[in-house]
Amino acid sequence: MRTVRSVGELHAALAAWRAAREPVALVPTMGNLHEGHLALVRRARELAAHVVVSVFVNPLQFGPSEDYARYPRTLDADARLLEGEGVELLWAPAVEDVYPGGYPPATTVRLAGALAEQLEGAHRPGHFEGVATVVSILFNRVRPELAVFGEKDWQQLAVIRRMVTDLGWDVRIVGVPTCRAADGLALSSRNQYLSDEERARAPALHAALQAIAAQLRAGHRDFDTLCAQQRARLEARGFRPQYLEVRSPDLSPPQANAREFVVLAAAYLGTTRLIDNLPVRLE
Ligand code: PAF
Repeated sequence: MRTVRSVGELHAALAAWRAAREPVALVPTMGNLHEGHLALVRRARELAAHVVVSVFVNPLQFGPSEDYARYPRTLDADARLLEGEGVELLWAPAVEDVYPGGYPPATTVRLAGALAEQLEGAHRPGHFEGVATVVSILFNRVRPELAVFGEKDWQQLAVIRRMVTDLGWDVRIVGVPTCRAADGLALSSRNQYLSDEERARAPALHAALQAIAAQLRAGHRDFDTLCAQQRARLEARGFRPQYLEVRSPDLSPPQANAREFVVLAAAYLGTTRLIDNLPVRLE
């Protein structure tokens, strides 16, 4: 596996594949890779001849009081994991490689409307602008045929799909289901911020989503009541929920006669912000 940093090196590494017209998949990450990321890489390898993984902790998607400075950066360990997965190219740019005009960039990509402004967007102003901007830049530099993202960030995936449609990107967006620990906690680099005691309580977030999913399957449709009950249970266990909502898979308001829903949550446990979601498909 080659690790490159500058855009020049990246383009040189991609040149032979491009000349041979061989499909390239991009897996954008912020590094500190775990099984969840490796599932994205494996899916990418199934779908394309070549896989490029980017590792870039994007300052533009972090709020001023968020964890940009302390976000774990573990490039050597990431490279070893990717090598083990048969990845050919790791692109690990610096801030000036991604934002050559200077940081912050003058040009950004912002999605207006409820899709990006609700849920995460309401609690993390500017977050999706940062994500959409960096993903656009990564797409521009790599020009992949397809790109793979985790369903763990359900709203991010929806935002990226919408951006690709709106801007006419010729990139197929592929979502991969969330990887979980045996006790149900969704894998996330931020889990390592949890104390042992918090880690033991953390699966209650997934349990709350499962409880709502079970009620939906049982025919309950009073979405607000279902969520309020689980919100209260999470609060009783020491969580500080920011949102716990039922939506349609496209994040529009849920319809009582629908067959598909997604339940989404964000909650603080101590100083750690956890997010999770659960798609629900009725048989
Ligand atoms: O999901 C992430 O890790 C990031 O938001 C992404 C898509 C790599 C953009 O920085």
